[in-house]
Amino acid sequence: MTPKHPSESLTTLTDLVLPSETNPLNNLFGGELLARMDRAASIAARRHSRRIVVTASVNHVAFNRAIPLGSVVTVEAKVSRSFKTSMEIYIDIWVEDRESGNKTKANEAIYTFVAVDDTGRPVEVPQIVPQTPLEIERFDAALRRKQLSLLLAGKIKPNEASELRALFI
Ligand SMILES: CC(C)(COP(=O)(O)OP(=O)(O)OC[C@H]1O[C@@H](n2cnc3c(N)ncnc32)[C@H](O)[C@@H]1OP(=O)(O)O)[C@@H](O)C(=O)NCCC(=O)NCCS
Repeated sequence: MTPKHPSESLTTLTDLVLPSETNPLNNLFGGELLARMDRAASIAARRHSRRIVVTASVNHVAFNRAIPLGSVVTVEAKVSRSFKTSMEIYIDIWVEDRESGNKTKANEAIYTFVAVDDTGRPVEVPQIVPQTPLEIERFDAALRRKQLSLLLAGKIKPNEASELRALFI
């Protein structure tokens, strides 16, 4: 399979925050943002693999800033690293200032998707070649994050998480 660049999976979804999507403080409801991120991430994973993809785990979400009613929110998702059948998707959330049009980063998240065949069995995906300094940084740290996710899910044992252990030794 020909390796791909992260930019080939770039997916950008821009939408408003409507009243039905807010919490009692009139800020975007967290579950709504998770759904928007899942949608963008699944398109990015599909663009990278050109296969059916499923969400395997949500590895990290940081709701650093509340997003008020009426905001224009952009979800930007890109594959940061692929393994054998799984892909890490890094998501940045931007909020656009109404008057200046400047975008400020509000939140970020990291999802793992797996490519599957028609019967739901995992299938191999193309490798990825990071290009920009940020893509390289995210690529380099992705194996540690995969090991942490598998460890928390009880799918590997601590002594199998070599990259993760190396951080503490
Ligand atoms: C995701 C799924 C396909 C994995 O199937 P599986 O039988 O566990 O397959 P494997 O153990 O071979 O894992 C497949 C890949 O997923 C990775 N993976 C599985 N669970 C993971 C987790 N919690 N975190 C990170 N990666 C994970 C494995 O490391 C493996 O990656 P690799 O092939 O790139 O090394 C399966 O669990 C599934 O279909 N889950 C439901 C998905 C779904 O419906 N999502 C929507 C939510 S409702």
